[in-house]
Amino acid sequence: MIPPKPQARPDKAGFWQHLRLFRQDILSSQPARLYRAWMAEFRTPFFRSYLCNDPALVARILLERPDDFPKSNRIREGLSPLLGNSVFVTNGEVWKRQRRIIDPAFEGGRLRDTFPAMVAAGAASAARLSPGVAEIEEEMSHAAADVIFRTLFSIPIEHEIASAVFHEFRTYQRTQPLLNLAAFLPLPRWMPRFHKPATRKSAAVIRGLIARLCQARADEILAGTAPDDLATKIMTTRDPVSGETFTTEEMIDQVAIFFLAGHETSASALSWALYLLALYPQVQDRVVAEAMSLGQAPEFSELSKLKFTRDVFREVLRLYPPVPMMVRENRCPETMRDRKVAPGAQMVLSPWHLHRHERIWPNPDAFDPDRWKREENRACARDAYLPFSAGARVCTGAGFAMVEGPLLLAMLVRDWRFERIAGRDPVPFAHLTVRAKEGIWLQITRR
Ligand code: HEM
Repeated sequence: MIPPKPQARPDKAGFWQHLRLFRQDILSSQPARLYRAWMAEFRTPFFRSYLCNDPALVARILLERPDDFPKSNRIREGLSPLLGNSVFVTNGEVWKRQRRIIDPAFEGGRLRDTFPAMVAAGAASAARLSPGVAEIEEEMSHAAADVIFRTLFSIPIEHEIASAVFHEFRTYQRTQPLLNLAAFLPLPRWMPRFHKPATRKSAAVIRGLIARLCQARADEILAGTAPDDLATKIMTTRDPVSGETFTTEEMIDQVAIFFLAGHETSASALSWALYLLALYPQVQDRVVAEAMSLGQAPEFSELSKLKFTRDVFREVLRLYPPVPMMVRENRCPETMRDRKVAPGAQMVLSPWHLHRHERIWPNPDAFDPDRWKREENRACARDAYLPFSAGARVCTGAGFAMVEGPLLLAMLVRDWRFERIAGRDPVPFAHLTVRAKEGIWLQITRR
C-alpha cells in the first residue's frame, strides 16, 4: 500500500476557482503535472509566481545568491501578530545579526547538553499514552512542546506558563488556520491583511506569557542563578560584530518562533512517522529492535545505535515534509530555464513536490527507509531533499530535530505498539504544517 497522497486537481482552474481551492488546501489545489515539471508559472492578476523544481534553480535561490532572493514580505504579514521581528521573518542585516546570536546555541556540542531534557520529554510522552484508540497528532504536539520548554527554559509542559502557552496556541490556530498560507494567496500587495481581533488577542496573550518567562530568566542571569539551557545561552551570547546581546523584547520574538517552528514541525513529523510505522509493521519491528538496545535513560552516545530509525525519520520527512512550501521574492531580473523572471515575482520552493518528483526519485511515493542506504539515492538526497531548507537560511533547529525525532520514536515504540485502524487512514492537508485532515488515529497497545 502506498502511503496517503492528496488527490491532485485534474485540470486547469480559473483564478477564482484556484483561490477557493487554495483556501481549502494548498496540496490538493495543485495539478499533478507539478510532480514532473522543472518549473511552473502561475499568473494572477496581481503578480507572478513560479514553482521551482529544477535543482539548479533551487541552488541559485537558496545556496548561491540568497541575498537576491529574500523572504517574501507576504510571510511576514501573515505571521506578524505572533512572531514580531523574529529570525523567521526578517531579512538583510537584522536577520544576519539574529543568526549570529542564535546559531551558537544550536551547534553540535550544545545538542549533547540538551539531550537529557529531550530524553525526559520522551519518557513523559511514553508515560502519558494509554492503551486504546488515540489521536496521535495531539499527543505529539504535547510531546514536541514539552521538548521545547524543557530544552529552552528547563521547565516541563506541566509548568503553569508552559501549559498556558501551549493551550493558548491551540486557540490561536483555531482563529488563524491558514497562517503561513496567507503568503501564497494571490491577493494584491495593496490589499490590507486584516487579522481577526481574536487572532491579535490570542497572539498578545501568548507573547505576554513568553515575556514573563524571558523577564524571569533575565533576572536569574543577573543574579547568577540561571540554568545552563538554550534560553540562557541565547540571552548571554554577544553578537561578535556589535558586541550586543538581545534585548528582552527581541528575545520574546525569538522564543515565539522557537516554540512555533520547533513544536509544530516536529509534532507533524512524529505523527506521520508513527502512522507509517503502523502501516508497515515490519518496519516498526526493526525500529523496536534498535530501541531495545538503548539504556532505560539513553545517553547521547547511544544515538549511533539508531541508524535505521534515523533513516525512517528521514524518509518520513521526505514523504511528509512538515514545511511543504517556502516562498522567496525575486529582486533582480533573472533568466530561469529560458524564461525571463521579473523582480517582485514570488519564487515558490516546494519540498512537497521536490521530494516526490517523478524524474528525480525512483518510486517516489513509496515509503522505503532503506533507500537512504543505497548509493543511487545520494544524488537525489543532494539535489532534491529540503525538509529543513538549505543554505544560509537553513533551519536553525535541523540538528536538534534530527536528534529529537529518532529518539522520541524509539522511546515510544519501545513501550507501545502502534497499529493502523482500517478505514481511518489520514489524508494529508497543509495546515500550518503538513497535518492530517481529520487527525491521525491509531490503536495503541502496551508492548
Ligand atoms: C522536523 C522538524 C523541523 C522541520 C521539518 C523544520 C523545517 C524548517 C524549514 C523548512 C525552515 C525554512 C523555512 C523558510 O525558509 O521559509 C525552517 C526555519 C527555521 N526553523 Fe525549523 N524545522 C524543524 C524544527 C525546528 C526546531 C526544533 C527549531 C528550534 C528549536 C526550529 C527553528 C527554526 C528557525 C528559527 C527557523 C528560521 C531560520 C531563518 O530563517 O534563518 N526548527 N525550519
